[in-house]
Amino acid sequence: MILPVYIYGQPVLRKEAELVTKDYEGLNELIENMKETMYASNGIGIAAPQVGVSLKLVFIDVDVLKEDFPELEGVQMVLINPEVTVDENSPKVTREEGCLSVPGISENVTRHSKIHLKWTDENWVEHEEDIEGYLARVVQHECDHLDGHMFIDWISAIRKQLIRTKLSNMIKGKVRCSYKAKFFNSKKK
Ligand code: NI
Repeated sequence: MILPVYIYGQPVLRKEAELVTKDYEGLNELIENMKETMYASNGIGIAAPQVGVSLKLVFIDVDVLKEDFPELEGVQMVLINPEVTVDENSPKVTREEGCLSVPGISENVTRHSKIHLKWTDENWVEHEEDIEGYLARVVQHECDHLDGHMFIDWISAIRKQLIRTKLSNMIKGKVRCSYKAKFFNSKKK
């Protein structure tokens, strides 16, 4: 089932998400719905708070980027309770990012290029891996959502100033969005 994407201004996007427990009912269904929602909105990653569920759960599928990044071919991950440790010694890279919860805005974000990631997959198998390059960026972006952060928190003060009006319109639902979305303050429910 395609779920509405919660848009900037929704309080759930600013909350620290809860750990997923093994007895969480409907976890598989939630993962399936997140996948469907992400594909329907042409995203490459989605975090549970973006569908209004405050849980530490992320789905990533970066296969679509394989032309630019051949190493991403077939890369698809379900991250349950992920823990990211950024390698502070790794080079910082600046690239444009966007987010399904911030439609119509993309901005340069500078991030470290290497991380260590611990996570549990959908079969409750634990994993631990060093990740670098573009995938490290996507993982950081998605896991930020679980801490109540969004990419626009990391942009320069001047850029923030420049998108201020767009963001306040977004809260009111005054933004063009090609997928099902849930705005904080729109009259459409
Ligand atoms: Ni995002």
